[in-house]
Amino acid sequence: GLVLRAELLSFDADPGDGDTPLPGTVRHLPDGALWLENGRIRALDDYVRLAPQLPEGIEIVDHSDKLIMPGFIDSHVHYVQLEIMASYGRQLLDWLNDYTFPEECRFAVREHADAIAEAFIEELLRVGTTTAQVFGSSHPQSMEAFFAASQRRELRMLAGKVLMDRHAPEALTDDTFGGIHDSERLIADWHGKGRLGYSVTPRFAPTSTRAQLDAAGGLLRSDPSLWLQTHLAENTGEIAWVAELFPESRDYLNVYEQSGLVGPRSTFAHGIHLDDEMRARLAGQGANIAFCPSSNMFLGSGLFDRRSAREAGLAVSVASDIGAGTDLSGLATLKAAYQVGQLRGEALTAWQGFYALTLGNARALSLDGHIGRLAEGMEADFVVLDTRATPLLARRTARCQTLAERLFALMMLGDDRAILETWANGRCQHRR
Ligand code: GUN
Ligand code: FE
Repeated sequence: GLVLRAELLSFDADPGDGDTPLPGTVRHLPDGALWLENGRIRALDDYVRLAPQLPEGIEIVDHSDKLIMPGFIDSHVHYVQLEIMASYGRQLLDWLNDYTFPEECRFAVREHADAIAEAFIEELLRVGTTTAQVFGSSHPQSMEAFFAASQRRELRMLAGKVLMDRHAPEALTDDTFGGIHDSERLIADWHGKGRLGYSVTPRFAPTSTRAQLDAAGGLLRSDPSLWLQTHLAENTGEIAWVAELFPESRDYLNVYEQSGLVGPRSTFAHGIHLDDEMRARLAGQGANIAFCPSSNMFLGSGLFDRRSAREAGLAVSVASDIGAGTDLSGLATLKAAYQVGQLRGEALTAWQGFYALTLGNARALSLDGHIGRLAEGMEADFVVLDTRATPLLARRTARCQTLAERLFALMMLGDDRAILETWANGRCQHRR
């Protein structure tokens, strides 16, 4: 066992949209102790209350002036796009053809996939992210590389090989059922192994035939513990193309519904151009939308309507979506989400932001039985934050009167320098 003494902050439920969190939703221990044992949280409490119960001689790490939160979660990200971040803009479909597809071709080579998987995980840990839902390329070896690298670091990760059997370069195009068989093999080898889970990953409607989407739905029916990730209603050109390709579907979402892809373990990235009726259908089927604010601004896709999603009871997770996203950091994602909210007249509070990044994303991904909270029995994934990490942040923090102000300053001014340590499965995996 091991104990960390620090300020502890964790959510037990959605704090609501108000300036003060709803009662009983936040657990804040200004001088707390977090007791780790066998990769899990054995106990946490005020330091003075827990100290007498600790076994003699147990190691105590003193982080008294630091803030510990659950590890950050990223609900939608493409590891294979790490090296094309910040490739000069334009809109979705040009960006895919000009940068993304050529880059993903490189993952046919296992050594390349291994190197980028390792680099991507190091970057995640540097910014305090301990769990992500990740797209590979269409090559199964891209997923072998990613799962193996995640397993070495004992990380809880969801990921899948992209399914794509049309409208992509030859080198990335699956045989319709070959891609499904590759997915089945990866599921057999990795799904449920340690902390890993498989997300069936049709890229988006335009790059799969109906036959491939139906077969992806068949995979999900064969094992209800699988996840699904794809893209939905990101860009107006994309939406018009989907309407042309699937005339039998009443709208974009219905393409996925007809193939059995919409359920409580499904994440749809973007969902910018939806109407209330589509939001109600998504909510009714228990799916979540991954809000990717920096990506949506980078590709000029639009300003996500978070308020309408919440009013519809539709779960919204938050995500970086790199390579279209401009920053892998959860703090940067919250800053971008705040800015998008401001342009829509619905500013995001720091409470909502940090809830989303931790328990909110864990719930959206059905992982809240494992991660997302500092609580007894939960897996010990957490981040140690230094809210005085930079001269500016230290100055700003010194002026803050309340926890809400400090959290907001962190979300607007914090970057990887504020992430002192990142722990996963009870072990420190990154130290600044
Ligand atoms: N839609 C289909 N593929 C992609 C992708 O790689 N990134 C984004 N942002 N949207 C997509
Ligand atoms: Fe994406």
